[in-house]
Amino acid sequence: MKNKLETFFKPKSIAVVGASKDTRKIGNAALKNILISDYECKLYPINPHEKEILGLKCYKKITDIPDKLELVLISVPAKIVPSILKDCKDKNVKNVIIISSGFSEIGNDELENELKNIIRDTDMNVLGPNVMGYKNASVGLDASFVYGNPKKGNVSLISQSGALGIGMIYLANNEYMGVSKIIGVGNKIDIDDDDLIDYFAQDPDTKVIGLYIEAVKEGRQFMNSIHNCDKPVLVVKAGRSSAGARAAQSHTGSMAGSDKIYSAAIKQAGGIRCRDIVELFDMAKALAGQPPANGNKVGIITNGGGLGILLTDACEANGLEVPKLSKKTYKKIDKILPELVKPNNPADLVADAGFYRYEAATRYMLEDPNIDGVIVASVHGGYARPEEFTGAILKMVRERKYHETYKKPILATWVGGREYQDLVLELKSAGVPIYPSSWRTARSMMGLYLEGLRIKRERKQK
Ligand code: ACO
Repeated sequence: MKNKLETFFKPKSIAVVGASKDTRKIGNAALKNILISDYECKLYPINPHEKEILGLKCYKKITDIPDKLELVLISVPAKIVPSILKDCKDKNVKNVIIISSGFSEIGNDELENELKNIIRDTDMNVLGPNVMGYKNASVGLDASFVYGNPKKGNVSLISQSGALGIGMIYLANNEYMGVSKIIGVGNKIDIDDDDLIDYFAQDPDTKVIGLYIEAVKEGRQFMNSIHNCDKPVLVVKAGRSSAGARAAQSHTGSMAGSDKIYSAAIKQAGGIRCRDIVELFDMAKALAGQPPANGNKVGIITNGGGLGILLTDACEANGLEVPKLSKKTYKKIDKILPELVKPNNPADLVADAGFYRYEAATRYMLEDPNIDGVIVASVHGGYARPEEFTGAILKMVRERKYHETYKKPILATWVGGREYQDLVLELKSAGVPIYPSSWRTARSMMGLYLEGLRIKRERKQK
């Protein structure tokens, strides 16, 4: 099983069946995406009616290609797919992506079973049918028909929905979240979520794994893969409601199953269930860029009392504690506050807080052994100085690299308008998660706490 998908994600030779000169066709886009990838490999278009496509020599069928093929993308109408898959088998192709739709998702189980029969008892890895393919940003290969590439990073994403998978690429870029690989799994006749979790668990370019699923086919294997994975696994499982389950069945032919059982099983396996894609991204950004929290005690720093209370409520509602300050920390923070204000947790630095107050309060909270993670918040009240809030966070995040004491998560929250936009982008691009919501911030801190617990459990078992 180890590295079973290595040549799937890093093939040295690729063929596109159904490659076309017609720029409106998926077979044209798929070939073009591979061709313009910053990735070295041999590339072969396959089309019985053409001699050359996009400057590349075109072959009539796969079996005409003299060289070994490591990956084949299929983009021809569903009814032709079985014969192409047979060609792949004859050519001893190990990895196949079936982009074509028109199988079990529309009730055409018979045609899908035909595909399953062809690959039965072979060691072929088949993705799909009904998929977009994948983008491997870590090596620069785009093996999909979808336009646009994610920024390189260390989050790997798996989506059962093609369109949501595509949306995730753009959302990741918008959120400055780096991606290693993003892949659609579609009808999952062979390559399943558990195979991908197993691969990403071993993949040095992946630090965090995120999934959108509507159903899993092999529940036990799925949970085992999460359990055996030494990295955080975030799961959005759709079809919570009975109407949602009905929608899932007509979308990918999935039986959504009991929601409570899914929740309990994901939790027991050590995964984190997220409510939606935005929450998955919130947590993925925190887990990819921040150290895990060693406990559930949170220090909150704010320049507005109301936001501090909202953050406190959200933390407590998500299993986190906002403890009273130790005497030592109280004294340190007291020295940096205006005379009439007294320190607390949440620590209100008052509306005119600038760089020094933010930086010192964050430092003192991080130095407190009774605090496991810090949330730094800014409200754009009349006197607020957003640049100084941002600068203080960046300073402490950088100091964390050199001092063991500061190796705790720092998350940020803001409430304000357009004046904050550049600063929010600055923090995001520096890998500091910042959220426009106390709830989202607390949920992400909870994700870091759960990751801390998972690591402790794992160490105990070793
Ligand atoms: N071998 C190779 N090429 C062949 C063969 C063959 N045996 N037979 C025909 N072709 C060629 C065709 O001649 C055509 O090339 P041309 O433009 O030069 O004539 C090319 O293959 C494609 O065949 P078409 O019949 O034109 O099919 P078309 O490209 O319109 O559609 C497709 C094929 C895209 C696979 C379609 O059937 C389909 O399934 N579309 C949906 C795909 C999809 O959305 N997948 C899910 C993605 S996830 C998401 O939701 C985004």
